[in-house]
Amino acid sequence: MGYLFGLVGYPARDSKSPWIHEQFLKKQGEQGAYRIFETSPDALEDKLQALKMVEVDGFNVTVPYKEEIIPYLDEVDSYASSVGAVNTVHVQDGKWIGYNTDGKGYVRSLLEEYPDTNLKKTQVLILGAGGAARGIYRALAEAGAPVIDIANRTASRGEALRKLRCGSTESSVLSLEEAEEDLSHYDLIVQTTSVGMTPNESGQIISLRNVKPNAIVSDIVYKPFETSLLKEAKNRGARVLNGHGMLIYQAALAFEQWTETFVEANDIVTKFEQQLKGDTTC
Ligand code: ATR
Repeated sequence: MGYLFGLVGYPARDSKSPWIHEQFLKKQGEQGAYRIFETSPDALEDKLQALKMVEVDGFNVTVPYKEEIIPYLDEVDSYASSVGAVNTVHVQDGKWIGYNTDGKGYVRSLLEEYPDTNLKKTQVLILGAGGAARGIYRALAEAGAPVIDIANRTASRGEALRKLRCGSTESSVLSLEEAEEDLSHYDLIVQTTSVGMTPNESGQIISLRNVKPNAIVSDIVYKPFETSLLKEAKNRGARVLNGHGMLIYQAALAFEQWTETFVEANDIVTKFEQQLKGDTTC
C-alpha cells in the first residue's frame, strides 16, 4: 500500500501541491497519492475529525488554517511553535505532529541557488511582516544572520515580528521609505508581501535605486514568473531569487519529514518553471 498525503486549506483546489508531491513520489520510486481536502471555515472541525479516521500519513496546511490547526495537534515542534504556524502535519503512531517548512524551504532555495552565501555574514532586510515573513525571519535568525531588519507598512506588525529574534541576531523595524533610503546596507533583501502578484503585476513595494550591485534580491511571489521588483533588481546588477524554489523546497522538506528520505529537488524546480511558462490560465 502506498502513502496518502493531502492538503487542508480554503480555497485549495488550484494548489500546485498535488503536482509537486506526485513528482517527488515518482522521483523517489514510491507509491502514493496526494489529495486536496478543501475545507470551508465552518466545516474545519468536522473535516479534521473525519481525517483522523483516514489512514493519512501526513498533510500540508495552507491559508487560512496555519494557526487554527494548532489546537488539533498532539505535538508541535519547537520551530513551528516559535513561528506560531504549522504548514506540515506528520501522522506518527496515530499522533498528529506539527512542523513548519516554509521559512526553511526559503533558506534551502537560497543556498541551492547561491551556495557561496554565508548567512552568518549576511545583512538581511525583510519587506513585510505577515505569516510568510515570520517563517523566513526565524529560519534566517536560526541560520545565524547577524542583522535582520524588518520594513513593513504597519510598524506594530514589524515590532511583533522582531520578537522572533534569537541568538545574536540584531533587528530594527523601519518604514518602507527608510528601507528604500538605506537599501545599500543589505546583502539580502527578501520581499514577502503579495505586492506585485498577478493580477497586480505593476505593484512594487519599494524602489531599488539604492541597492548594492552584488546584493541578492528575492521575491517569494511566484506569479508572475518575474515580478517588477526582480526585473528592477536585474537591471541594477543585483542577483535575484524568485519564489519558485521556496515553493518546491517547502514541499520537499514536508515530503522528507513524511517519508524519512532526502529529496534532491533542483530538477523539480526546473520542471515547475517550464510548466509555469507554458501556463496561460492567468
Ligand atoms: P501572508 O501570510 O501571505 O504573509 P499577511 O499575513 O496578510 O499574509 O501579510 C501580508 C503582508 O503584506 C503584511 O506585511 C502587509 O503589510 P501590513 O502589515 O501593513 O498589512 C503587506 N502588504 C499587503 N499589501 C500591501 C501593500 N499594498 N503595501 C504594503 N504592504 C502590503
